[in-house]
Amino acid sequence: MESDIRDPGLSETGAERMEWDARQMPVLSAVRERFEREQPFGNLRIGVCLHISTKTANLVMAIKAGGAEPIVCASNPLSTQDDVAASLVTHHGIPVFARRGEDADTFSRHLHKVLDAQPDILLDDGADLVTTAHRDHRGLLDRITGGTEETTTGINRLRGMVRENELAFPVIAVNESRTKHLFDNRFGTGQSALDGIIRATNTLIAGKTLVVCGYGWCGRGVASRAKGLGAAVIVTEVDPVPALEAAMEGFRVLPMAEAAGLGDLFITVTGNRGVIRREHLEAMKDGTILANAGHFDVEIDLEALVVLASKRRRVRTNVEEFTLSDRRRLYLLGEGRLVNLVAGEGHPAAVMDLSFANQALAAEHLVRHHGDLEPGLHTLPGQIDTDIARLKLESMGISCDRMTSDQEGYLESWA
Ligand SMILES: NC(=O)c1ccc[n+]([C@@H]2O[C@H](COP(=O)([O-])OP(=O)(O)OC[C@H]3O[C@@H](n4cnc5c(N)ncnc54)[C@H](O)[C@@H]3O)[C@@H](O)[C@H]2O)c1
Repeated sequence: MESDIRDPGLSETGAERMEWDARQMPVLSAVRERFEREQPFGNLRIGVCLHISTKTANLVMAIKAGGAEPIVCASNPLSTQDDVAASLVTHHGIPVFARRGEDADTFSRHLHKVLDAQPDILLDDGADLVTTAHRDHRGLLDRITGGTEETTTGINRLRGMVRENELAFPVIAVNESRTKHLFDNRFGTGQSALDGIIRATNTLIAGKTLVVCGYGWCGRGVASRAKGLGAAVIVTEVDPVPALEAAMEGFRVLPMAEAAGLGDLFITVTGNRGVIRREHLEAMKDGTILANAGHFDVEIDLEALVVLASKRRRVRTNVEEFTLSDRRRLYLLGEGRLVNLVAGEGHPAAVMDLSFANQALAAEHLVRHHGDLEPGLHTLPGQIDTDIARLKLESMGISCDRMTSDQEGYLESWA
């Protein structure tokens, strides 16, 4: 079996950490047990391009239990947990092509390795696997049953493909499930982005002026958690509706040009590029910390930072100091890549339980509805979303009411 991982000797640590996180993933465990009985994937090859973390490993084990042959690469060159990759290869015989810190060429070669294996289904996070298949593996497009997409940025890219009539197979937009974006993006990113920043810098959040760029699902989570830790939070937005929402939540809303000189710590979560640009960097205070939690490393203009800096050095793991010509110092975390995955361990397993139950059930949905789903973007049926939430509630020992038939009739009646 061919693989490309950093060090097989790390497998025991990976296995211990996977087991620990599996305990926090009861919904995915229930899906896995059913998959074991029903074998929905009957030897289908599933190409997986996700952050190689303990949580992803548990998803991969679930689809394997359902009869699939997974083959795995990373969705980000800096988020791979090498011990997890080692355990997947060594203990479970799953081919993995991912090394933490791999360069751009290796990252791309690994995507091709997965596609060279002729997968039937693609599980993607950021749409790199799907777009690479359409660009460089066009012979595969007819045989691919479909794909799934984990994140907002991937869905934005796929929408671009649909607009240009390019998407050749159905893709399930996992992010659109309520049990995904309401929980993973908000509570997951809210906690783990701050966790990554704290692990990287050991900074005190209380008393800081923290600027959150983008008040979408992730931004709402980051802003509310930062406020809870005692930061004075400023929000920047381009859409007046979330800007208004942020203002009504009590956050100060400012254009980036004004926020730039006020913040001690900036977190971009927009999915857009050039959110912090040269003119903003030039206005920042000495000691400002810059972090990104959006999918790609394009939100902070890294080229401008390099041009402005007269000196550059690594001062801690995941912290780089850029000294500007007037001796102000700016600190960039995790090379401007997803700070929660580079400097932390990503989202807690309890929240990925929901996201990856959605991923696993989306893959099953593609198989069960093969032939009925047109090429394009789809969402999981609402009932699956509701079932995932009910299972999660049960696992937490919480029950909620069900409507009486009288209430259902009342809500359906126009009279
Ligand atoms: N770090 C993680 O683990 C994690 C988890 C989920 C999603 N994501 C990624 O985070 C990003 C945001 O996801 P989301 O679900 O919150 O998206 P979203 O669409 O809900 O929110 C993005 C917000 O950013 C705003 N925005 C766009 N351009 C802006 C600009 N120039 N300045 C200020 N605001 C701007 C938009 O108006 C929108 O309100 C995406 O790249 C997504 O893929 C990361």
